[in-house]
Amino acid sequence: MVKGVPRLVRPSTGRGSGIAEQTDRTDRTDPTDRTDPTDRTLTGKATRPVSSRLPWASLPPAMGEAMLRFDAVEKTFRRGKALVPALQGVSFEVARGEFLAVVGPSGSGKSTLLHLAGALDEPTSGEVYVGGTALGGLGDDKRTKLRRTTLGFVFQFFNLLPTMSARENAMLPALLAGVPPGEAERRARDLLERVGLAARMEHRPDEMSGGEMQRTALARALVTRPKLLLADEPTGNLDSHTGAEVFSLIRSLAREHDTAIVMVTHDPTAAARADRVLALKDGLVVSDRRAEAGAA
Ligand SMILES: Nc1ncnc2c1ncn2[C@@H]1O[C@H](COP(=O)(O)OP(=O)(O)O)[C@@H](O)[C@H]1O
Ligand SMILES: [Mg+2]
Repeated sequence: MVKGVPRLVRPSTGRGSGIAEQTDRTDRTDPTDRTDPTDRTLTGKATRPVSSRLPWASLPPAMGEAMLRFDAVEKTFRRGKALVPALQGVSFEVARGEFLAVVGPSGSGKSTLLHLAGALDEPTSGEVYVGGTALGGLGDDKRTKLRRTTLGFVFQFFNLLPTMSARENAMLPALLAGVPPGEAERRARDLLERVGLAARMEHRPDEMSGGEMQRTALARALVTRPKLLLADEPTGNLDSHTGAEVFSLIRSLAREHDTAIVMVTHDPTAAARADRVLALKDGLVVSDRRAEAGAA
């Protein structure tokens, strides 16, 4: 992530524990931190009308089968005295099992969208629904539980724990989700075999290639059998051949458990193989269409 501008730093309370909650944003290190009012209060005051700040419970429940729904989502960051509108009223739905690619120039709001979908951050206004549940109505515990059980994350920089083996990294989210250790290990081994890492189970990240680390991260993301996989340029740090391989693995493994995918990508080939492509520009959806090539 190369951006020449300082970011709003949210102080960490150090309560975040799990690898399942890591993001590629070191400036938002603690996704479980709901006590810091920086984003919401400051930017909320600036942009959110009072009526929409009434209790979340008053919002109507989401209907239908969408795995993910954004309803008029706005996200404004504060940078110094300036307000930075990252998302300016974004609405879309992702059906169960659907594969949505999110494209757009750098700074168009793609990562922000993914963080909001992952309950790692909160919108300034509007609402995000995961599996029909409005995230804004959830307390800390329920958000954490949702992240651990329903969502899987794959990021550009892998975010593996350096002191743990591939097997331990892959097991961890399942343990955090309450899966018994034996079952967690069985799932982790199975997934690592499926992504071609049978001979790398006991290797630490510094003993693996980029492609191997990303395949480990993929096993880790899927070990809980999430219904929604969120991926931020998961092939962005890989050479094109390895990237294509990881992309195909994501696609085929997700299909097995009818896992919906929202994947930010710069790769036009990958985008063309998604079911749908959502294009962002300046925090707005500029197109939302079924991929021309369809399911490849
Ligand atoms: N934590 C933050 N603090 C301040 N501005 C931010 C923060 N995160 C993102 N932004 C700004 O919001 C806009 C969208 O960022 P981002 O979602 O990371 O875009 P993309 O992933 O498409 O490159 C950019 O202008 C970016 O600088
Ligand atoms: Mg980004």
